Amino acid sequence: MITLDRISKTFPGTDIPAVDRVSFQVNAGNICVFVGPSGCGKTTILRMINRLEEPSSGRITVNGQDIMSLDPAVLRRTIGYVIQQIGLLPHKTIEQNVSLVPELLNWPKSKIKARVTELLVLVGLDPGTVGRKYPHQLSGGQSQRVGVARAMAADPPIMLMDEPFGAVDPIVRIHLQDEFLRLQQHLKKTICFVTHDINEAVKMGDYLIILNMGRLIQMGTPLEVLTEPADDFVLNLLGDDRGVKILDLTRCETLMDRDRNFPYNPDSCLIQSVKPVKIALELMMKKNIDQVGVCKGERIVGVLTWNSIKEHISRVSRDRP
Ligand SMILES: Nc1ncnc2c1ncn2[C@@H]1O[C@H](COP(=O)(O)OP(=O)(O)O)[C@@H](O)[C@H]1O
Ligand SMILES: [Mg+2]
Repeated sequence: MITLDRISKTFPGTDIPAVDRVSFQVNAGNICVFVGPSGCGKTTILRMINRLEEPSSGRITVNGQDIMSLDPAVLRRTIGYVIQQIGLLPHKTIEQNVSLVPELLNWPKSKIKARVTELLVLVGLDPGTVGRKYPHQLSGGQSQRVGVARAMAADPPIMLMDEPFGAVDPIVRIHLQDEFLRLQQHLKKTICFVTHDINEAVKMGDYLIILNMGRLIQMGTPLEVLTEPADDFVLNLLGDDRGVKILDLTRCETLMDRDRNFPYNPDSCLIQSVKPVKIALELMMKKNIDQVGVCKGERIVGVLTWNSIKEHISRVSRDRP
């Protein structure tokens, strides 16, 4: 668990704080996404967590320990750091780049070799071919994967990821996001993830922390933030398709009518209760129907209607909640 308690940072020679009395907690096993416009303090917050910057005031703890009482080198070994400008060493092979931290930790050669192979496979790269290449021989997407693999090399419980998928094109980016979420289901790392892309934030985050000009504006689950934006700044950041984003995060069972009888016949459209309402809506549009049966396994447990979806959107996406 990571906690920040009234953290401020004013860089020397400036009088406006880059980070201004920010407090929050990131629970173990969660992805917490920091989102906000360029210059709002996201990178500075991450860099204070692994002590690449010192706060001007406030306290940061990791698993209850004040990080100022820890040796920075020891602290950083428990924290993987991924940045957009990946920073791979150009004259070392991919294999050597991923081995850096385990070598620093004096792992035996055979253990390092096995770990590097395992990691490259984990992030979707072929160890036999990619492992022997040099950074300039890789595509943007491959380099980003190597960056993630390198940060995970010593299996740190915490990962700081600063716009890790920022430098790749949108399609590769969606792939990397999906793969990373799949990995995280097993790895359960504690992750601080920075992005300026609200769609990426909503997709990746268990929690969002919304920042503007060094201040924490709002904190909550993506659904909480989408349904109750704190102010006009958050509202604008969320974008015009806020209603659609909400439908993507709302399960059919939340909006279904339990008491209504579904007129079942062999051509009826059915959807599983845990699926997003957005999928049900797409189904209704495609089949030109105005209701679907909602199932738990084989059993029909309710009915989801076009009208109830419409009412929900207009209720939650009013301009001023
Ligand atoms: N080393 C530094 N010296 C002076 N100002 C800095 C330094 N690093 C960042 N800043 C300033 O702090 C603010 C926050 O920067 P940063 O944390 O990089 O924002 P973000 O990552 O959200 O784009 C910006 O105004 C930036 O110019
Ligand atoms: Mg930044």
